[in-house]
Amino acid sequence: MAGLEGKIALITGAGGMRGVGRATALKLAGLGADVAITDVHREERDLPPAEIRLGWRSIDTVSEEITALGRRSLPVYCDLSQPDQIESMVDQVVDHYGRIDILINNARAIIGRDKVPVTELSLDVWDHFLKINTTAVFLCTQFVGREMVRQGEGGRIINIASNASKQASATGAAYSASKFAVLGLTQASALDLAPHKITVNSVCPGPINTDRMSYWEQDRAEELGITQEEFRGRIVDEAGRNSPLGRIAEAEDVANVVAFLASDEANFITGQAYNVNGGLLFH
Ligand SMILES: NC(=O)c1ccc[n+]([C@@H]2O[C@H](COP(=O)([O-])OP(=O)(O)OC[C@H]3O[C@@H](n4cnc5c(N)ncnc54)[C@H](O)[C@@H]3O)[C@@H](O)[C@H]2O)c1
Repeated sequence: MAGLEGKIALITGAGGMRGVGRATALKLAGLGADVAITDVHREERDLPPAEIRLGWRSIDTVSEEITALGRRSLPVYCDLSQPDQIESMVDQVVDHYGRIDILINNARAIIGRDKVPVTELSLDVWDHFLKINTTAVFLCTQFVGREMVRQGEGGRIINIASNASKQASATGAAYSASKFAVLGLTQASALDLAPHKITVNSVCPGPINTDRMSYWEQDRAEELGITQEEFRGRIVDEAGRNSPLGRIAEAEDVANVVAFLASDEANFITGQAYNVNGGLLFH
């Protein structure tokens, strides 16, 4: 695959130790891109146990890893529920690097509180999911898209959606609604930005072997008297057994598809939603 030398990539939600955002940042940096990585400041109670145990420092640690690969890195803390913070985050990246060529909308609301039947879903949780998973994707697309149009050299926008963008599950109303919306946003933005040679695509992963924070997993583990990590391990094993390819995705499986879509070789692909799910879903 062609390299990404000279490209500037902005990746949201990139601070997780085993998340898709970090894997994508390292993949793109490995291909020669300089990166800006962003995430929200999280309280300790909102962090996966391994990140606390190992003293992980979110995008500051990821930034050091990128620098060690010989690429430039800019960590910017930003709460994506705040539109003014999104605008100033994009401004900071443009001020620092002078341009943005690749935007990866990867962040999502911390999951778990949404995992209830629709009749019990609180409006606050619904609003929060729509804010982070949908509205922030729109705003990042708008602010970065304007910059790409101004630059006049095309660009790449890649939205990390989900299986849940195509097939909802019980107790998934807020998550699925927020992720279905990302596919509509992807298609409309692809058409709006096509005259500027800016492509917009989604990647739809099935379950991924991350240690994402989930309040639901935390509560179930407590009920069962096991650690959150043990409970997470059970979920990963069970989901792997139910997968046609016998395992769930690693974050790197998703990052590989993102890297292809970010490359020059993908310049005739736009408005699409690529599954990375080991054969779980075919449409
Ligand atoms: N993990 C999975 O099984 C899975 C499956 C399908 C799709 N996905 C999608 O892949 C992407 C990455 O998933 P993951 O499991 O690596 O991520 P994750 O759940 O660890 O969250 C991604 C990042 O979003 C950040 N974030 C949360 N609230 C924020 C806010 N208010 N402002 C800014 N950032 C905020 C988090 O801090 C985190 O670093 C997401 O879009 C997710 O929906 C994940």
